Amino acid sequence: MEGKVRIGLIGAGGIAGAHVAGYRRNPDTVVFAAIADPVRESAERRRGDDEAVTIYDDYRTMIAEADLDAVDICLPHHLHAEAIVAAAEAGLHVLCEKPLCMTKEEAERIAEVAARTGVTIMCAHNQLFLPTVAEARRLIDEGTFGRVYEVRTTDSFYNDFTPESMGWRANAATAGGGELIDTGYHPLYLLQHLAGGVPTEVTAMLSRHRLEFMEGEDSAQVLVRYDNGVVGHVTTSWAYEAAPGTEKFSLVGERGSLTSDGVTLTYRVRGEEPVTSEFEPVHDIAAEVEHFARSLLTGSRPLHTHVEGIDVLGVILAAYESDRTRAVAPVHRIAAPVH
Ligand SMILES: NC(=O)c1ccc[n+]([C@@H]2O[C@H](COP(=O)([O-])OP(=O)(O)OC[C@H]3O[C@@H](n4cnc5c(N)ncnc54)[C@H](O)[C@@H]3O)[C@@H](O)[C@H]2O)c1
Repeated sequence: MEGKVRIGLIGAGGIAGAHVAGYRRNPDTVVFAAIADPVRESAERRRGDDEAVTIYDDYRTMIAEADLDAVDICLPHHLHAEAIVAAAEAGLHVLCEKPLCMTKEEAERIAEVAARTGVTIMCAHNQLFLPTVAEARRLIDEGTFGRVYEVRTTDSFYNDFTPESMGWRANAATAGGGELIDTGYHPLYLLQHLAGGVPTEVTAMLSRHRLEFMEGEDSAQVLVRYDNGVVGHVTTSWAYEAAPGTEKFSLVGERGSLTSDGVTLTYRVRGEEPVTSEFEPVHDIAAEVEHFARSLLTGSRPLHTHVEGIDVLGVILAAYESDRTRAVAPVHRIAAPVH
C-alpha cells in the first residue's frame, strides 16, 4: 500500500471516541474517510465538524461505496465476526476491538477468510502500546531474565454499571460471557505477549461478587500454561479495585524479575541492584492506530493479528469450561491452520 490508509469506522459508541482521536493524531498515515452507525446522532458526534467524513447507517453500504483501504470495528461483541468477514470479503484490512469474536466457530470463519483473502486483521490490543510493556518485552528478548517461569497480569476496577446503563454487556448472547471476555481480554493478551508461547491449558475460578444482575461473571482468576513452560496468572474484576501496590504486570525468570504498575517499571537481576525507570504516559489507542497504518503501508506484521486474538479467545473459552467442569481445561485449537 502507498500514501495514507483510508479508514471507515464501524460503530460510533463509547470507545469510538478514542479511535477518532487516534486518527486525528496520525494525519500523516491515516485518512478518516467514513463512519457507519444506525444511530445518526452518534455518527455525527464522532465525525464532529469534519464534513469530509461520510456517514452511513449501514456498514455494508460503507464498505461498498466509500473507497476504503480498511475498517475499524468498534461494535458490540456479537457483531464483530460478521463485520470482519464482510470487510475481508471486500478486500479491506481490519482493525478490530477486543474480543476478536465470541466462539470457536466464529474464529474458524475469521481464520479461513484471512487465509483466503490475504487481508491484515489486527487486534486492537491497546495496552501493548504502553512504553512499559514494550520495555518489558525488550528486556525479555535480550535475555535479561533467562528462561521466564511466571507472568502475572491484573486489570480490575470498581465498575458502577447499573442494569440500565450496562446494555448489551449484561447478556451472554451479546457479550459472549461476562467480565472475562470484556475487560479480562486486556490482561490476557498482555499475559500472552509477555509469556511469548502458545496457551495449552487453563484453570479458572469465576465469581459474581457484586454485579448480581449480570448473566456472566463480574470477576475472574485464571491460570494459563503455555507451550514454552511459562505459567501465567490473571486477576480481573469489575466488582472491586485491586489492592494498593498490586502490579499491572510482573514476571519471574531464572535470572531475575520485573514488576510494573503500567507507568513505572522495576527489574532486578539476581545479585544486582534493582533498576527503576519511569515512562511518559502515551495515548495508547493513537499508538495502536499508527501501528496499524504503518503495518499496512510497510507490509509488516502487526504485533497481534487474528492469530493472537484467537489464542486469547481460546484461553477464555477454556476458562469458562474449567469453571463449569471444576477441572483443568485444554485450549482447543481451531480447525484452520493459523500458526
Ligand atoms: N480498548 C478498550 O479499552 C475498550 C474500552 C471500551 C470498549 N471496548 C470495546 O469496543 C467495542 C465497543 O464498545 P463500546 O463501549 O464502544 O460500545 P457502545 O455500546 O458504546 O457502542 C457500540 C456502537 O455500535 C453501534 N452499532 C450497533 N449495531 C451496529 C451496526 N450493525 N452497525 C454499525 N454500528 C452499530 C451502536 O449504535 C453504538 O453506537 C467492544 O468490543 C468493547 O469491548 C474497548
